[in-house]
Amino acid sequence: MIALVLGGNGFIGSHLVDKLLAKGHRVRVFDKYEEHYRRPLAGVDYRFGDFGNRGLLADALDDIDTVFHLINTTLPKTSNDDPAFDVQSNVIETLFLLEQCVSRKIGKLVFTSSGGTIYGRPAALPIAEDSPTEPECSYGITKLTIEKYLALFNHLYGLDYTIVRPSNPYGSRQNPAGIQGAISVFLGRVARNEPIEIWGDGEVVRDYIYVDDLAAGIYKAATMAAPERIFNLGSGAGHSLNQIVEAIRTVTGRDARVEYRAKRAFDVPQIYLDIALARKALDWAPVTSLETGIGKTWQFIEELQRRND
Ligand SMILES: NC(=O)c1ccc[n+]([C@@H]2O[C@H](COP(=O)([O-])OP(=O)(O)OC[C@H]3O[C@@H](n4cnc5c(N)ncnc54)[C@H](O)[C@@H]3O)[C@@H](O)[C@H]2O)c1
Repeated sequence: MIALVLGGNGFIGSHLVDKLLAKGHRVRVFDKYEEHYRRPLAGVDYRFGDFGNRGLLADALDDIDTVFHLINTTLPKTSNDDPAFDVQSNVIETLFLLEQCVSRKIGKLVFTSSGGTIYGRPAALPIAEDSPTEPECSYGITKLTIEKYLALFNHLYGLDYTIVRPSNPYGSRQNPAGIQGAISVFLGRVARNEPIEIWGDGEVVRDYIYVDDLAAGIYKAATMAAPERIFNLGSGAGHSLNQIVEAIRTVTGRDARVEYRAKRAFDVPQIYLDIALARKALDWAPVTSLETGIGKTWQFIEELQRRND
């Protein structure tokens, strides 16, 4: 495979790049920035540019047979601030990518959608791929719109695609001082001896998947021949924030103080994904336990602290 990873220098993309290299594939990365936590890797063809720079993007597609699309210009929490920007920079620019993939006869396009936002408030748990989609943020609407255009381009022009809908990934190279990823953010606060902040009573339930397991699933989405096109990728189990804090205490041996704040209206009470389809059709399963994953993430954060001291 000659793979182009759009957003390959980000959190999930960098782990997918590792997976592709380990499997012996040729890898090109297109990203706006260098990797934040590592030096450039030998053997990767890095191309830098904005997703909206169509000339640079077209150049990066030369000779590629498989495209992994992991660029997203917004976050769920902030996407409602400027929906027009969200649509322009994600939907419209992805349409250009799809046109290029058709005209260049690209073999496969794997799109990273979102299991956490496109379903909205689930009617039943765990959420299967054919559950109703009622996103409650612009980010979820643009992800879903791109999913629909992929189906249209397949129908009209035969574009071969697979969609993955990850739950809540965590792990090394996720920003511990960022605003996304409860486990990394909580561990970052513990490492800095700051209290963990929880909005509400801590009983909000999410589906946490270790990033290596997610990267393995994205890889399988490109390489397994399956008639289905949409796959949830999660752990398949729900954990409350209070359970995460307990696991953090056990793994790190630290006190992990918690400050509870007022509940946020936009937090859906419970989400976890049904991953039966990916298990069967992609022959994929997450293998990292919550404790092991938290331990690996903690190692990364401690190493980061040592480097910065
Ligand atoms: N992290 C999550 O919780 C999560 C959950 C579900 C789905 N996803 C999706 O997975 C994908 C990867 O997410 P991530 O967590 O690795 O994010 P990330 O921000 O760590 O990585 C995204 C990468 O894309 C690059 N990028 C962003 N805008 C760009 C632009 N305009 N032009 C060129 N490059 C640009 C960034 O530089 C970054 O390296 C995204 O599509 C995201 O929506 C993430």
